[in-house]
Amino acid sequence: MKNVILNNGTEIPEIGFGTWQTTEGVQKTVKIALDAGYTHIDTADIYGNEAEIGEAIEGSGIARKDLYLTTKIWNSNRSTQGVKRSVEQSLKKLKTDYLDLLLIHWPANEKQFENWKEINAETWKAMEELYRSGVVKTIGVSNFMLPQIKALLETAEVIPAVNQIEFHPGYVQQTVVDYCKEKGIAIEAWSPIGSGRLLKDEDLKDIADKYDVSPAILCIQFCLQSGVIALPKSENPTNIYNNLHFERFKISESDMKSLKTLEETGFSGLNPETVDF
Ligand SMILES: NC(=O)c1ccc[n+]([C@@H]2O[C@H](COP(=O)([O-])OP(=O)(O)OC[C@H]3O[C@@H](n4cnc5c(N)ncnc54)[C@H](OP(=O)(O)O)[C@@H]3O)[C@@H](O)[C@H]2O)c1
Repeated sequence: MKNVILNNGTEIPEIGFGTWQTTEGVQKTVKIALDAGYTHIDTADIYGNEAEIGEAIEGSGIARKDLYLTTKIWNSNRSTQGVKRSVEQSLKKLKTDYLDLLLIHWPANEKQFENWKEINAETWKAMEELYRSGVVKTIGVSNFMLPQIKALLETAEVIPAVNQIEFHPGYVQQTVVDYCKEKGIAIEAWSPIGSGRLLKDEDLKDIADKYDVSPAILCIQFCLQSGVIALPKSENPTNIYNNLHFERFKISESDMKSLKTLEETGFSGLNPETVDF
């Protein structure tokens, strides 16, 4: 598997294992993923599964240095003390003494907070301190749209390395992607398969058939070919394996265009600028 080089010189595997809303027991699915060869795991404080992931990693016997762990600061911890407390707890649950990547899960937005810029700036400052201390190797954001990312860059001393956003066929948030790329901020795709909603899309299925791949694999290749890190989630051992080990292929330019402009059948409905959580 290829690594993507981030703006601080660190490397991140181009495919990571998603762990949100795992119903079968995340310890089991992460064990399957680690056995299948995933080295990059995406979690978050709010998923409530860091302790189980820590158990799965410990049980795997894989050296910590051979894994890439991402977690995220939840909205209730958007403060200097909140960030520190959250990271201490995440480290304990994940049974590790450092994080590869720490993200602000969702920005404070204008709809909810008059002082949204200050809240995000304070959260980021606390993350910069953890970055400088070495306990977090890379820092980034998630769900930052143009107003939030531009505002953050006004005061940031460390440029975020990553913006993890919803990205999949039919929903590519091109202006955010273009702006981040221009600033050297890598994009990670959350819900690369639209949380499974895209699997029912007939137009996507027709394109997948042309390449003799499943719709899920087409979605993952679509991310990689767009220069975007993909975080597919699965609880099915065969799908878990295939999502990492499929033979890379080239989607034609015209099919890439069709995938970008597909109907928004996979969209989550979540707009970071208006969500009320
Ligand atoms: N930063 C954020 O705010 C945010 C928000 C949402 C998600 N995320 C991250 O992004 C990750 C992925 O997003 P997601 O969990 O929404 O889901 P997803 O990866 O877009 O889709 C998962 C769905 O696709 C199915 N699937 C996966 N591989 C398949 C395959 N090869 N063939 C057929 N079906 C397949 C899964 O079913 P099976 O289990 O049956 O395979 C499941 O129903 C999350 O787990 C989380 O880590 C982050």
